[in-house]
Amino acid sequence: MDKIIIRGGKRLSGTVTISGAKNAALTLLPCALLTDEPLTLRNLPRLADIDTFQHLMNQFGVSTAIAGSRPEDFGRVMTLEAARITSNVAPYDLVRKMRASILVLGPMLARMGEAKVSLPGGCAIGVRPIDLHLKALEALGATIEITAGYVRAIAPDGGLSGGRYSFPFVSVGATENAIMAAVAARGKSTLHNAAREPEITDLCNLLMAMGAEIEGIGTSDLVIHGVPRLHGATYRVMSDRIEAGSYACAAAITGGEAFLANARVEEMEATVQALRDAGILIEPRSGGLQIAAEGPIQPVNLSTAPFPGFATDMQAQLMAMLCCSEGTSVLTETIFENRYMHVPELNRMGAQIETSGRTAIVKGVPKLSGADVMATDLRASMSLVIAGLAAQGETNIHRLYHLDRGYERLEEKLSLLGAEVERVGGD
Ligand code: EPZ
Repeated sequence: MDKIIIRGGKRLSGTVTISGAKNAALTLLPCALLTDEPLTLRNLPRLADIDTFQHLMNQFGVSTAIAGSRPEDFGRVMTLEAARITSNVAPYDLVRKMRASILVLGPMLARMGEAKVSLPGGCAIGVRPIDLHLKALEALGATIEITAGYVRAIAPDGGLSGGRYSFPFVSVGATENAIMAAVAARGKSTLHNAAREPEITDLCNLLMAMGAEIEGIGTSDLVIHGVPRLHGATYRVMSDRIEAGSYACAAAITGGEAFLANARVEEMEATVQALRDAGILIEPRSGGLQIAAEGPIQPVNLSTAPFPGFATDMQAQLMAMLCCSEGTSVLTETIFENRYMHVPELNRMGAQIETSGRTAIVKGVPKLSGADVMATDLRASMSLVIAGLAAQGETNIHRLYHLDRGYERLEEKLSLLGAEVERVGGD
């Protein structure tokens, strides 16, 4: 298996192009199921998860075409056409590779009246049940059966009907499944305590472009008026706010600077505030965000929270940066029950982090040392990259498939910023 070798200590400087958002793309792609007309998505990031989703859509009989893009271009244009759906089953071998496959449940149910998806199961960061997805679809009239490791959702003969659902706590995926089903249900649906992540706003904007009628976009109370038909559209995927925050932490830990092209401050205000609290200069510029480390990194205390709070997907990356701060930081992970897998690996690089339940105490150290480390999940692996950039000596990061799921052409982007990084095979 591939690994990445980073020779740390280089100060990063320059421009990094932020790609399309993985977590937006993974909810925009299944919208193709809601119409028999072509849906063209631009700025799709070149990621393993996007490839997996494309295979899944092909499995349903959806045609997908990648428009010509030069190898050096970031992002791709994909046109999906679900004129004829030949299968409404998402099989275990694809779902187990990518949990986001569950996001076909709502749109497939709305289109075909029945959908069968392998239960996604847990992952490194937590159990990740889908009970809220199922309850929201039941509120729209669906019948849910779980047998032999599959969830089967069935709509009444006349199709889904508008309903009301109040989420007991915020769930991004469950909100997305509910929205994609409700836009094609008969009548009005109201969703209370819906997730407000920018990726949900991106989803609603795409659906509106396809003819959906949604009120309250960007708020936690959505009113959706179902329409009999949705049409095709061409839509540009939003930029990846988590990738942008990750590169900001990478530049900051090296005492460097970077222009994050395409990053939008309004999608990452909590991250911007945390970086400013850590003493990092970060200012919006036309077309992106300028970040620069000025003086030593200061400790930061924060809890992760649903948007607009500090994103759980940024916790591991911020923690890596805080390992080199001048004091002690206290981080609390409130979204997932097991999202500190990066801690033992960071400690092997000389960090001083103690965890107790959902809380991590990060005592800053003067230097980190390069080591062989193991990636365990997507964001944990990025935190090891960030630590490796500042560590003295060489860091080898193994199990790179985690990184390839969420960071487009990582080594290239880091090299363009002056990092000494290479990918080698045969690990
Ligand atoms: C999305 O996952 C993202 N993935 C995650 O990003 C992100 O960490 C998460 O939202 C939170 O922001 C994609 O968008 C593809 P949730 P999702 O439903 O939808 C529990 C990354 O690194 N829950 O908001 O699965 C759940 O276990 C990934 O890019 C239930 O109990 O997250 C978790 O504790 C990781 N029942 C909490 O809610 C449910 O039915 C929030 O999960 C659904 C969720």
